[in-house]
Amino acid sequence: MTAAAPPGLPAKMHALVRTFLTSPGAVEAAVAEFGSPAHLVFPQVFAENLEGLRGVLAARVPGFRICYAHKVNQSRAFVLTAWAAGVGIDVASAAELDSALGAGFTPDRIEVTGPKGAEFVADLVERGVTINIDNPWELERIAALTEPGARVPVLVRVCGFAGTPVSRFGVPLARIDAVLKVLAAERERIEFRGFAFHLDSGEPAERVRAVESCLELTERAYAAGLTPSILNIGGGFRQVFTADATAFDAYVHALRESLLGRGEPMTWGGNTFGFHLEDGAVHGTPVFHKYANTVDAARMLADLLDTGLESHGGRGLAAVAAENLLEVWLEPGKSLVDHAGITVARVEFVKETADGSTLVNLDLSRDTVTPADQEVMVDPILVPANGSAAESANSGAVGVFLAGRLCLERDLITNHKVWLPRCPAPGDFLVFPNTAAYHMDLSAARASMHSVPPKLAVAQQSGTFRVCRDVDYRHEVH
Ligand SMILES: Cc1ncc(COP(=O)(O)O)c(C=O)c1O
Repeated sequence: MTAAAPPGLPAKMHALVRTFLTSPGAVEAAVAEFGSPAHLVFPQVFAENLEGLRGVLAARVPGFRICYAHKVNQSRAFVLTAWAAGVGIDVASAAELDSALGAGFTPDRIEVTGPKGAEFVADLVERGVTINIDNPWELERIAALTEPGARVPVLVRVCGFAGTPVSRFGVPLARIDAVLKVLAAERERIEFRGFAFHLDSGEPAERVRAVESCLELTERAYAAGLTPSILNIGGGFRQVFTADATAFDAYVHALRESLLGRGEPMTWGGNTFGFHLEDGAVHGTPVFHKYANTVDAARMLADLLDTGLESHGGRGLAAVAAENLLEVWLEPGKSLVDHAGITVARVEFVKETADGSTLVNLDLSRDTVTPADQEVMVDPILVPANGSAAESANSGAVGVFLAGRLCLERDLITNHKVWLPRCPAPGDFLVFPNTAAYHMDLSAARASMHSVPPKLAVAQQSGTFRVCRDVDYRHEVH
C-alpha cells in the first residue's frame, strides 16, 4: 500500500525560471557572487506578459495604452524592459518618476497616479506628464500654478461605484459635477483627457459597473463642452500562483480538518487564516484565497473587453469604447510581473519545538517575501547545496514551518505547514516562487541591521544564464 501524498501547494512556474532553477549550480553561483538572501527578476518573462496583454488589446480596440504600474516592483530591469517595449509607465512618487525618466521614458509616456503632496504637484505641472487627479484639491493646485495656454494634461480618477467598497482614492461619483465645472472653467490651463479608475478587486462585475459609470461621465463631460478621449481602467488584473487548483483545494480541505482537530496539525501559533470555528464546523473565507485563482490576466482582460454593456444595448465594451473614439488605458502591475521573480534564501539550521514541530530557519524574514503580511500559499522549492542532497539522503516528505531570522515570535515565514521532499540541511536553498509582485518591495525591512537583499536580473542568452545586479541590467535588442 502506498501512503497518501502529503498536502501540497505546487507553484505555477514559467519555463525559463524552472530551467534556471534546474540548471546545475545556477542558484548557487548567483548566491555565491551576490550573497543570500536575494531577489531575482526575469525581465524576459515580464516582456512576455506585456505581449500577452498587448495582443488582447490589439485584437479588440483601435487605440490603447499600457502603463506599467512601477509600484509593483522597484526593479530597474522591468522599467527598462517596459521602455524598450514602447509602452507607457504609471508612477506614484517622485522617486518612481526619476526612475522612469532615468530609463528613458519621455513625459508623453508617463502617467502619475495616486495622491500627491503640494511639492510633487508643483513639480509635475512643469513636466508635461499626464497627471491622474486623486482629488479636487490637486486640480485646483494645478490650475493655480499653470499659465493660460500651458494646458496640463489630466485624467480624473473616480471612485464610489455602486457595490464597490469605499476607497480612499479618487473623486466620489457624487462629487464629479464640481470637478467638471473646474475643468470647463480652466480649459485654458488644463487639458482634460478622460476618466480613470483602479479597483483592487478581481471581481469582473465590479469592473464592468465602473466602466459603465465612466462612460456615462464621459457623456456628461462632452455635454459640459469638454473633449475626453481616454478611458483608463487601471490595474488589478490577477496573477495565477497555483499549478494545480485541485491540490490547492485538497490542501485547504486538510487545513480545515486540522482546525477541527482531525489529522495532522497544520497551523502555527493558533492561526486560523480568517476561518472561524462554530458548532463543530469551520466557516468563512480564508485570507489567502487569491492564491487559488486560475484565470490569468490576459483572459480576464479579454473577458472584460468582450463583456456586453447593459447600458449600451448589450454591445461589447471594446466596441463601445471604439465607437466613442476612446483610447483604452491600462495600469497593470502584478500581472506584468507574474512569474517574473523569485526570492532565494539559505537554510541556516533545522530544529524541533516543544510541540514536536519542525522549524526550518532561514536567513531572511517574513516581510521580505510576504506582501503586506499576507500568508503566501505556494510551496517553496528546495534546491540542494552542492553535495548536501547526498548527505541527508532522501528522508521522505516532511512537514515543516519556515522561520525567519528576526528575534520576534511572529517572524514565521509560513504559519501554515509546508511539506518539502526531504528535511533540508544547513546550506540548502529554499526558493520562493513568484515574488515579483509586491512581495519583494512593499515592506522590505532592515530590522537587526540586516541589509536588504540585492535584486538581481536574470536573462537567458544563447542557452546560458547571465545574472547581474538589477541596476546594471542592459536591455539587449534581439
Ligand atoms: C492607481 C493604480 N493603478 C494600478 C495599480 C496596479 O495594480 P495591480 O498591481 O493590481 O495591477 C495600482 C496598485 O495599487 C494603483 O494604485
